[in-house]
Amino acid sequence: MQRSQLEEKALNQKNQISILGVETSCDETSAAVLIDGRELKSHIISSQIEIHQKYGGVVPEIASREHCLQIGKVIDQALEEAGLGFKDLSAIAVTYGPGLVGSLLVGVAGAKAMAYAAGIPLIAVNHLEGHVYANFLEHNDIEFPLLALLASGGHTNLILFKNHLDYEVLGRTRDDAAGEAFDKVARTLGLGYPGGPYIQKAAVTGNPQAYDFPRAMLEPGSLDFSFSGLKSSVLNTLNTACMKEEKFNMNDLAASFQMAVVDILVRKSLKALDQVSAKTFALAGGVAANSILKESLSLALEERKIRFLYPSPVFCTDNGAMVAMAGYYHFLAENKASWKLNAVPGLTL
Ligand code: KG4
Ligand code: ZN
Repeated sequence: MQRSQLEEKALNQKNQISILGVETSCDETSAAVLIDGRELKSHIISSQIEIHQKYGGVVPEIASREHCLQIGKVIDQALEEAGLGFKDLSAIAVTYGPGLVGSLLVGVAGAKAMAYAAGIPLIAVNHLEGHVYANFLEHNDIEFPLLALLASGGHTNLILFKNHLDYEVLGRTRDDAAGEAFDKVARTLGLGYPGGPYIQKAAVTGNPQAYDFPRAMLEPGSLDFSFSGLKSSVLNTLNTACMKEEKFNMNDLAASFQMAVVDILVRKSLKALDQVSAKTFALAGGVAANSILKESLSLALEERKIRFLYPSPVFCTDNGAMVAMAGYYHFLAENKASWKLNAVPGLTL
């Protein structure tokens, strides 16, 4: 296996590298301490899901306030569990975008102040990169080129990583993200928030062939995604049934919708693999926690003899460990952020 320059650098490091990763882009306040890019010493997540559940989605102002309340406690706990103080850290890595501006600002301002006071570097992490780096938390032998399918609440991307921090976006969603479609359909079906886990649960006893929902493939050769037609089709099916006072089977609807999303994601991933040569295929983002998606990809990739990786569920959704891992590679690459770092809510890859 060929080692990248950054991996060589990591192996030759004499001093221990301790990174504190901080994540506050949406509704999870999280902090983690990662040693030498290998050993996760602590990982604290304070989730706001229960608070936002009664509104059926994240309320940005409430999210920022909750981050303000939690960030100090979460970081203190992460350091305490790791047995380290600020002065023992090599750097603080923080998500600076994309996400909700108020939420991001809490993390960015906090990390900036702590790094400045401790006299250590600040590392700016793109949340989307962080999701892909979650895979490195449980595997330290990943070979490039790596094709990543990032499917979260705000993004759906196919990304080719030629090496650490060196990547190209091959496809992106033109409308809704995959997770967003799960959330919107779940809300219409009267299931809970976030929608993905509820749809997955309802789908277990449903028939995935009961409804023939559209699978938008766009132009031939395109690796972009579109989920809004599928979402509208589910909503129309539901509205028509309600207007005609017809009964519908919630579990069949959930299973058929989930199958359509999975089909689109799998077909586009395989199409991408036809266009590039990849040694590894990795899933990332909240939707990567979906069992049917993992099963379908696993079958398809086994046939092609491509190594298939996905993070454990806790590392699929937003977390500080993935930020620490991406931060570790940025630290090795000497990508230090300026003290003028600001939140960038619309940051892209
Ligand atoms: O990555 P993430 O925690 O936050 C963003 O960066 O957006 O992703 C959250 C998204 C939500 O839309 C949620 O419904 C979806 O991930 N999700 C799932 C599952 N678990 C979470 N979607 C499908 N199946 C799941 N099991
Ligand atoms: Zn995320």
